[in-house]
Amino acid sequence: MNLAPLFTPVRMGDLTLPNRIALAPLTRMRADNPGHIPTAIQAEYYAQRASAGLIVSEATAISPAGFGWADTPGLWSSEQVNGWRQVTDAVHAAGGRMLAQLWHTGSISHPDLRAGELPLSASPINPEQRSVTAAGRVPTVTPRTMTTAEIHQTVADYATGARNAIAAGFDGVQILANYLYLPAQFLNKATNRRTDAYGGSIENRARLTLEIVDAVASAVGPERTGIKLGPMHESGPFEANDETLPVSEYVISRLQGLSHLLLMGATSDLTGTPLESLAGDAMFAHFRPKFDGTLIANVEMTGERAARLIESGLADVAAFGRPFIANPDLPARLATGAPLAEIDWDTVYASGARGYVDYPALPLAEQTLVQS
Ligand SMILES: Cc1cc2nc3c(=O)[nH]c(=O)nc-3n(C[C@H](O)[C@H](O)[C@H](O)COP(=O)(O)O)c2cc1C
Repeated sequence: MNLAPLFTPVRMGDLTLPNRIALAPLTRMRADNPGHIPTAIQAEYYAQRASAGLIVSEATAISPAGFGWADTPGLWSSEQVNGWRQVTDAVHAAGGRMLAQLWHTGSISHPDLRAGELPLSASPINPEQRSVTAAGRVPTVTPRTMTTAEIHQTVADYATGARNAIAAGFDGVQILANYLYLPAQFLNKATNRRTDAYGGSIENRARLTLEIVDAVASAVGPERTGIKLGPMHESGPFEANDETLPVSEYVISRLQGLSHLLLMGATSDLTGTPLESLAGDAMFAHFRPKFDGTLIANVEMTGERAARLIESGLADVAAFGRPFIANPDLPARLATGAPLAEIDWDTVYASGARGYVDYPALPLAEQTLVQS
């Protein structure tokens, strides 16, 4: 199939992306230092992937209260901002553009990561997942309910994180609002049992996410603000329920003016779930008319599928996660039809250079050979 649609430029907010291939946000646990500071190794890793039209950083905690996964970076201290500055400088020097993904883990954090303090969430509901601590994966605990003052502080922390991202040289930010993390814990009726203005109805459960969006957009501009959001079918209390789709529709229809929406297609078999009708490309067809910014489609993209989605208008950009891990030059490989290297899963969540910055790009000669 003709992959030419992938290699045309597109506007996203105030950026021009030279191609439609984005690096999806990927946690890689290489910020293994006490300050949660990105270092030269992250600069090398992201610069290797700068031929992507857009890079979204790994999830990055906005505050100590939002931190909740061992060896991941933050964006609240000046040391972290300086650390990220060397990453964004390296990406820009290599010709790339990069967003910071803003993260609050809520109940997915663990007392071992918080000096013994319970993690915070909408309600005291154990998310029944695994927390990633320095000692490895352990069962999550029942979190403590956030007070109204803590909710307001969290919204302010997102705005500070976004300002810090711009100070660190990022070209914009992406709010992580799906999966299992704090915004999703408020959106989901199974993990939000509040009876105040942040719980109960869909409107109330969406309030935190929309306040975060407003605060971040006011801090750095809507054209530099995007979000990763959409209905998902995960495990435990995050299994899709009858309000999973309506709450996503409610929030997405109120996001007008933002730079982008990173929308994930199904990550598991949706048969028999309330999301069954959104299997395959139906997820993108459903939400495309509801959002006026750049729509970035994700999950199990191939060059062919991405080109088809873009050609048919269902997406503007395609984000590739796993394929970028072992193929730093993924755009060139897609353009030339070169084979894709396989991931070594043992080194995905590990420390050090192995499996992180040692996947080679194809020599130019080999790329030309495949092309001709
Ligand atoms: C190792 C790994 C780490 C991930 N870390 C994040 C993350 O930090 N933030 C996020 O929003 N998604 C994260 N994801 C999900 C990816 O961004 C992406 O949505 C998912 O891998 C599906 O895309 P793919 O099929 O191209 O891999 C991660 C996925 C993997 C495999």
